[in-house]
Amino acid sequence: MNKQPVVIIDSGIGGLPYMEWIKSRLPDENFVYIADNKNFPFGTKTRDDLIRIMTETMSWAVDKFRPKAAVIACNTASVVSLAALRSNFSFPIIGVVPAVKPAAFMTAKKRIGLMASNRTIDDEYTEKLITDFASQCVVARFAGTEIINFIENELQAAAEAQITAVLKPAADFFKKSDVDSVVLGCTHFLFLEDEIRNNFGDGIRIIDSREGVGRQVIKVLTEKGLLSDEKKTDYFHITGLSDEEKISRYGWVLNKYGLCAV
Ligand code: DGL
Repeated sequence: MNKQPVVIIDSGIGGLPYMEWIKSRLPDENFVYIADNKNFPFGTKTRDDLIRIMTETMSWAVDKFRPKAAVIACNTASVVSLAALRSNFSFPIIGVVPAVKPAAFMTAKKRIGLMASNRTIDDEYTEKLITDFASQCVVARFAGTEIINFIENELQAAAEAQITAVLKPAADFFKKSDVDSVVLGCTHFLFLEDEIRNNFGDGIRIIDSREGVGRQVIKVLTEKGLLSDEKKTDYFHITGLSDEEKISRYGWVLNKYGLCAV
């Protein structure tokens, strides 16, 4: 048994639905969620910058929280920095990468869509994922940078019409590409899962990695004997904002997810 926290890192709020899934299955686990707002969005950064940012954030988290494991709840950071992080830190690190493999199994038309950040769309890791697991499929890629920004910064106060408007270019693109499945390759998109499903239409299956990643976290903690048997407090840390900004912008997150600001 190990009461040390699992650290979960994203550029913003994207990883919260992943944390929720794990929390609901492992109620005795303790979490520290880090939203690296100072470096948001990750998707427009270079590989080198992202590796540096993630290594610094993880080193800081190790000093401050002594985690027993980490989840990189961000496709962009995972495709770029997972290998570097695993070679620098000795505890288990679980990543989130686009669910291209399950999508390739499920597609009947052999035409799948991938919606993700610019970095993820263009990255060599994604290229290899497609070559390894979906080489028999056409993969239509859409960089959803505006949707990611909207979810992080505007979703809380947004009306239905604004959501429909921000999703329209992606919905049009995937309908025109004639895909039957779309992979949500950015964790932020889960906040608009229902709206994406409605706007993309019945003919498009939406695929995400939340359950697959959650099950992997449970498996790793179980196999390594790292499960906790004592629930303490779950914390939320945001980089780069004043205390007032933290509360005004992210107070709803603390309430909704039962987190304590640190
Ligand atoms: N949630 C991230 C991802 O899964 C965020 C992207 C960003 O910060 O650009 O890729």
